[in-house]
Amino acid sequence: MSEGPGPQMPAPLISPSILSADFARLGEEIRAIDAAGADWIHVDVMDGHFVPNLTIGPGVVKALRPHTAKPFDVHLMISPVDGFLDAFAEAGADIITVHPEAGPHVHRTVQAIRKLGKKAGISLNPATPAKMLDYLIDEIDLVLVMSVNPGFGGQSFIASQLRKIEAVRKMIDKSGRAIHLEVDGGVDVDTARQCIDAGADVLVAGTATFRGGPERYAANIAALKGRD
Ligand code: DX5
Ligand code: ZN
Repeated sequence: MSEGPGPQMPAPLISPSILSADFARLGEEIRAIDAAGADWIHVDVMDGHFVPNLTIGPGVVKALRPHTAKPFDVHLMISPVDGFLDAFAEAGADIITVHPEAGPHVHRTVQAIRKLGKKAGISLNPATPAKMLDYLIDEIDLVLVMSVNPGFGGQSFIASQLRKIEAVRKMIDKSGRAIHLEVDGGVDVDTARQCIDAGADVLVAGTATFRGGPERYAANIAALKGRD
């Protein structure tokens, strides 16, 4: 059972993944989750090559930009990724997160994102160790721990990733830098609590946000924040 956050435990930021939205009404869906209390908007970009699914490109991000002032948290699951950074920055991404496996020089990729004036995130697949961050931690604004293998919404949370969240939390605290620790995949009210206890401060939630339709969005987001 989940309990509300104690006074010393701030509510997490919620970044609903629009992968679970109605793609025929995306602008409307974004306005609805904005009004329902979403903190960020998580945009899953997939290329059918780095991950076995195809989703949306910079044109859609650009078209959605006027529908909310909330930060666009753009998760790029594309390879090679470097050639698309400009297009997503220009389309209105605020945070651009990449996988270290998606290009030959991830340190350079991170530098390129920051040079575009955007926040840079590194996403760790379930089998990618926290150690990958050793020489990147001073250059990034966000770590995204994948708690499913990337490619699809609606998968089950991989519990072994809780240990990785704890390890990354220690690395972030040691760095002394303001770095977000985000978890993505299979987040529901129960796993949300486990992620927060392990040190996460941002939760991506697709299925758990959009379940039940627009009249449920506010309650779903509140429940993920521990305010049910
Ligand atoms: C998976 C994506 C996730 C996914 C989350 O590759 O990165 O953002 O859409 O969906 P749920 O919350 O349904 O697991
Ligand atoms: Zn994602």
